[in-house]
Amino acid sequence: MAAHYTLSRRDRNPAGTKASALDTPALVIDLDAMERNLCRMARYASQHKLLLRPHFKMHRCTDIAKLLLAEGGAVGFCVQKLGEAETLVGAGINNIYVSNEIVDPRKLARFAELAKAVFAMKAGPAPTSDVAICCDSVEGVERLAKALRHAGAAGVRVMVEIDVGQNRCGCLPGDGVAVDIAKAVVAHSDVMTFGGIQAYHGAAQHHRAPEQRRETISKVVDLAKQTKAAIEAAGIPVPLVTGAGSGTFTLEATSGLYGELQPGSYLVYDRDYADNVADESQPHFEHALFVATRVMSTGSKLNMAVVDAGHKSHAVDSGQPTVYGRSDLSFRNGGDEHGILEHRHTIDGAEAPLPVPLLNELVYLVPGHCDPTFNLHDTAVGLRGGLDHGVVEKTFVIDARGCCY
Ligand SMILES: Cc1ncc(COP(=O)(O)O)c(C=O)c1O
Repeated sequence: MAAHYTLSRRDRNPAGTKASALDTPALVIDLDAMERNLCRMARYASQHKLLLRPHFKMHRCTDIAKLLLAEGGAVGFCVQKLGEAETLVGAGINNIYVSNEIVDPRKLARFAELAKAVFAMKAGPAPTSDVAICCDSVEGVERLAKALRHAGAAGVRVMVEIDVGQNRCGCLPGDGVAVDIAKAVVAHSDVMTFGGIQAYHGAAQHHRAPEQRRETISKVVDLAKQTKAAIEAAGIPVPLVTGAGSGTFTLEATSGLYGELQPGSYLVYDRDYADNVADESQPHFEHALFVATRVMSTGSKLNMAVVDAGHKSHAVDSGQPTVYGRSDLSFRNGGDEHGILEHRHTIDGAEAPLPVPLLNELVYLVPGHCDPTFNLHDTAVGLRGGLDHGVVEKTFVIDARGCCY
């Protein structure tokens, strides 16, 4: 009989495994750091009397979503994809906002069924049951209305998304199509309600200089204000303006306009976010997501080590990872399954003190971009007690991983 060589993916690093004994590569969450980040954002939103609706696209893990509801001040979640929404609702989560457009009738039929399922739940871990979605065209509203009516679903909140300079989705801001969309929503009040405006600027999150972020978001706020005034002038109240991410949320929060924040990355804070020059008004966030990797070869040159994590272990769309706690080492892409560590002989002119890691030595990488890095892994191990001396407390299943539809 053939031997069974299948290794359970979830058992590679079971609870109780010491950090120093991690099997690699492994996606690792520093639980203490993540919980501190979670509390800092919850406190900030509550102090500013704003709704906090973290983006689920960042981690795609329903256990983390439940933690955000229980302890992180979340009222519900933003999702970008219907598959993410379905995973959340499948896990019993009753407050979902698709912060994106859906126009394909097959997907709209799924969305209508999802809305029915949420409203049938009545209660759940979120404070209220709610389903909302973005529209940026009158035709989009008509398509949504048709799907909701066909499924016998009602009560969906519709947000008009305006393009505030990102040049992605969103209609023209101001007195024009945004008002027409709001009117179309009101005309279908048997199945939907007008929820307000989404004004999100993704690129602004990653402007390095605080002044640059401030300048961009001040334009965003102006455009959203003009649009709100135009819709109100048409006799339609605008109950909410929603948006913001981890790089600019303090600006939207203090604009006097936004009622809801949508950040996601603050929870684990990736290398790219740490490259932003911090705004003094922003709470401090720590890296909490790492790829644990080990040296598998020292190659053929001195001062070099090859680790077992390449770009199948961490996303590189925002650049290469850094090596945590080892500014004397640089990371270079070695391909799908390899990463190359090189020793800098000097740091700021002084001789680098530490040698290159030895065979099988463990190092932690800080990924450039957290969202697509989560999406590469089935599971993440939660370490309690720090990266050096901690112990695996639990395994998170990234259950909406791959839900790119
Ligand atoms: C619509 C929307 N809102 C909020 C966010 C959250 O941004 P971040 O994870 O950078 O905080 C994103 C991320 O891309 C987004 O697309």
